[in-house]
Amino acid sequence: MAARTQALLYEEIARADELELSWSEAELPERERTKHVHRLHPYLGKFIPQLVERLLTRYVRPGGHVLDPFAGSGTTLVQALESGCDATGVEIAAFNALLMQVKTGRHDAFRLQTELREAGARLGRSRQAPQGFVREWFAPTAARELLHFRDLVADFEHADVLRVVLARAARSARLTTHFDLDFPRSPQREPYWCHKHRRTCRPVSEANKFLARYLEDTIARILEFDRLRTPGRAARVLHGDACEVDLEGPFDAILTSPPYPGLIDYHEQHRYAYELLGLDDRRERELGAAAKGTSRRALEVYSRGIAEVLRRCTKRLAPESPVLVVVNDRRGLYPAILDDAGLAVEERLERHVNRRTGRRAGEYFESVFVAYARS
Ligand SMILES: C[S@@+](CC[C@H](N)C(=O)[O-])C[C@H]1O[C@@H](n2cnc3c(N)ncnc32)[C@H](O)[C@@H]1O
Repeated sequence: MAARTQALLYEEIARADELELSWSEAELPERERTKHVHRLHPYLGKFIPQLVERLLTRYVRPGGHVLDPFAGSGTTLVQALESGCDATGVEIAAFNALLMQVKTGRHDAFRLQTELREAGARLGRSRQAPQGFVREWFAPTAARELLHFRDLVADFEHADVLRVVLARAARSARLTTHFDLDFPRSPQREPYWCHKHRRTCRPVSEANKFLARYLEDTIARILEFDRLRTPGRAARVLHGDACEVDLEGPFDAILTSPPYPGLIDYHEQHRYAYELLGLDDRRERELGAAAKGTSRRALEVYSRGIAEVLRRCTKRLAPESPVLVVVNDRRGLYPAILDDAGLAVEERLERHVNRRTGRRAGEYFESVFVAYARS
């Protein structure tokens, strides 16, 4: 913000307001922002579906194919399917790829309900003694319930849906405080003063109650999205590094919110899922991971990496297709990154973001860069 004038900022906000890219809490309550499959599992660092919806309506023709090279939990893919587009998402973190696959895959409604209910009827406790991470981060009963469910999963056709339910229940059942669910540092074994609920809370001791609740919630959310998605449209999930994954195309737009340096470790936020499900950990390939820091060198590596991804993806675009990048560019890196990727910025819209959750409360602006390949 330092180098930009206040007047210019107001102009950009006015333009974003005209496109209605900012919402107050009352206009867009949480249940709307987390509608249907968007709430299948928590994910820190999502953009809101309504922003994607507006950008798709404005910049992408119906029936177009949208590419998101940093697809995360799949917001772009889900909204593309709802808006009548096809979508491809690339993602380095295995759990995110799994989550996206479950959100966007086609499910037979009857089989899905039957299987998830059958899994619910088979909840129990493993006789296996928990080891390592599971032993450290879960109370003994919760650990045995999660291990029992994990061993059931492979019996079902909808095993991946059950894996997501397992991860969500594991997240809720960890030995953490209610106010530090994203990156807890050490297990909380004793009752504690809870800043969120303003009373003494106890760490969770069981997991089956979460499994039962999330099985039902997952059925309802997948079926709701099934009714809304456009028939004949499909999403493809590519689990890999956007710097090297094979892309087909041609695509009609890129719509993405890239990772930003020093903010979030995308593998680490779902550590319990990697540990329980034995997923492949490729965190060293994460661009801008918090663990890599924000030294000058780290920022250079980040900027080069993002530019390379955008350059590769832009080569797969049909002529005159937009590249839409949503980012809170507090370090002012993006004008140079986009230029380095061979893109010319046509518009930069400033969106006012209302933050409302717990300790990260506060307000900030987020930019939507609208760019095109330089001819
Ligand atoms: C800001 S998040 C995207 C969130 C997404 N818009 C959503 O709503 O869920 C950025 C994502 O980029 C992924 N990522 C980081 N480095 C990557 C790489 N080299 N290749 C592919 N994905 C990468 C991270 O794992 C993270 O999920």
